[in-house]
Amino acid sequence: MAEEKNERIKVELEGVPETLLWNLYNRAAEARRPGSRVLDDPRAVALVDRIDYPFERFGAAAMAQWHALRVRCLDDEVRRFLAERPGGTVVALGEGLETQFWRVDDGRVRWLTVDLPETVAVRRALLPDDPPRRRSLACSALDLRWMDEVGADVAGRDVLVTAQGLLMYLPEKDAKGLIAACAERFPGGRFLFDALPRAMVARNQAGAMDRGGDVGYRAPRWQWGMDVKEYRKVAAASPRITEVRSLRFRRGRGLYAIAPLSHRIPGVRSMRMSIIAVRFGEAPGTAE
Ligand SMILES: C[S@@+](CC[C@H](N)C(=O)[O-])C[C@H]1O[C@@H](n2cnc3c(N)ncnc32)[C@H](O)[C@@H]1O
Repeated sequence: MAEEKNERIKVELEGVPETLLWNLYNRAAEARRPGSRVLDDPRAVALVDRIDYPFERFGAAAMAQWHALRVRCLDDEVRRFLAERPGGTVVALGEGLETQFWRVDDGRVRWLTVDLPETVAVRRALLPDDPPRRRSLACSALDLRWMDEVGADVAGRDVLVTAQGLLMYLPEKDAKGLIAACAERFPGGRFLFDALPRAMVARNQAGAMDRGGDVGYRAPRWQWGMDVKEYRKVAAASPRITEVRSLRFRRGRGLYAIAPLSHRIPGVRSMRMSIIAVRFGEAPGTAE
């Protein structure tokens, strides 16, 4: 494994790239919990300790458990893919400082991180590439040249593309166009993403979720939302989509004990994010 340096690193990001630090901070907050916790992520804890950034602007990490339940749900789906396609390739679009590779690594997975240049520079400083299994590419997810990095020898069915915490920052037509392009390029492959409910996106767009204060953090605007019950509509993005599933959360502590049923409870449902797993059809004549 590539050697990792241990000095503290100042991270100065703005706009959407800066949001990766909120995610990291919340993962680490849950992972630091003594006793019962929904996520083990020692690398996230180590990263927060190494990064020179005023994390206190994110407040008390009140959403940490909810965020960790989201992460567990995404990890479970990546593990299901790896169990079915050992040695498969995961392309993590907008990966930020996610440490999912280390949580799900089966010793064979090939992992390609695709993120904006400023984010990849931070990632490479803190989590250096370790080719050939773990590589990163500085490129927008919307610049489809990243697809060439997957390798022409990799079958579409051996590819899972993830977009965790990304599509809400893209216009709907770009998000759906990206899913359609993946369906075209990776027949038999899969796409995994999360979506925020419309009401939450509307509140964010109206500025109702901004924090005040000198060190307050103002989250960038989300652009696309989708309610839990709308998940089947994703199939309209491409005729090559053969399956769309909305994934269930695990049971959490306290109030979050209802997480597995949260998609059914009115009031909760309208404020709950969706995690959507999409499958693409095989190209004609290539099914196993
Ligand atoms: C909310 S963070 C999510 C980070 C990580 N996936 C996670 O769940 O912790 C959003 C990420 O999307 C990246 N991003 C924003 N626009 C992008 C684009 N057009 N292409 C690729 N990545 C992008 C940012 O740099 C950042 O890493």
